[in-house]
Amino acid sequence: MNYGFVGAGEITAAIVEGLSKDVTDAPSIFLSPRSRSVGQELADRFPNVKVCAGNQEVLDNATSIVLAVRPPIAQEVLADLTFRPEHVLISALAGARLAQLREWAAPAGDVVRTIPLPPAARRQSLTAMYPDNAAARTLFDSIGGTVVPDEEEGLNVFSAATATFAAHLDYLGTIAAWMTDQGIEDTVATTFTSHIFGQLGQSLLEHDGALETLTGKHMTPGGLNEQLLTELRTEGVPDTVRHALDGILTRLRDR
Ligand SMILES: NC(=O)c1ccc[n+]([C@@H]2O[C@H](COP(=O)([O-])OP(=O)(O)OC[C@H]3O[C@@H](n4cnc5c(N)ncnc54)[C@H](OP(=O)(O)O)[C@@H]3O)[C@@H](O)[C@H]2O)c1
Repeated sequence: MNYGFVGAGEITAAIVEGLSKDVTDAPSIFLSPRSRSVGQELADRFPNVKVCAGNQEVLDNATSIVLAVRPPIAQEVLADLTFRPEHVLISALAGARLAQLREWAAPAGDVVRTIPLPPAARRQSLTAMYPDNAAARTLFDSIGGTVVPDEEEGLNVFSAATATFAAHLDYLGTIAAWMTDQGIEDTVATTFTSHIFGQLGQSLLEHDGALETLTGKHMTPGGLNEQLLTELRTEGVPDTVRHALDGILTRLRDR
């Protein structure tokens, strides 16, 4: 299997690491020349990775092409490329519609929208994609798995859900900062907060069924967890989160 990547930044680095690190018979990977430092570092680490002289050379060496440039320049980047019918364009762009991508990458035979995530580096990215496609499934199943919504619109919903990461981390940062305000040493507060929420994440991964069940397990009636949850709900925090997610979805739909 050969893969080409147009755009070699954060997400490409994660996918390439997942495909290559400690993998026997790793696929051949062809990277676009920008960003040279990221590509060169990957090529230095992994013998199956080569940095090409130009974006077209990537397409000339592989049929499965991952597009991972920033959305505003995607059309311009694709306009300079000559696709063939055997190409599968696997777009990692947040929001760019299939109809648009198909037009920009014509006559590529297949176009897939995907949402790869940074844990791809340790082969733990559950990647949402649409439509289902054998080449994209092979790629993403090898680095964590795939989930396919029933229609393209569903992909925007998955995308909006992933827009919550920074806010979630900021919530954890608020807890650590509050501990420091109470006199706990900064690094101890951060280590403690990272540990307890890292462990909670592990419990989440091991949990089957509704999230509410796990919430219930962390809450004694009349206890401290219940008090904090009730106060946040009373203050309208869940409504604010839903409202903000609606705004993200609107932005994604308008792209
Ligand atoms: N990061 C994530 O977690 C994540 C997750 C899912 C989807 N995505 C999507 O993936 C895409 C890339 O995100 P990213 O975080 O990896 O961004 P990034 O780190 O900024 O990488 C984008 C890369 O594109 C390169 N580039 C710019 N112009 C180019 C051109 N004409 N031809 C080829 N490459 C060019 C840039 O090179 P220079 O450095 O030389 O400018 C940069 O290395 C975005 O559309 C984003 O929505 C990202």
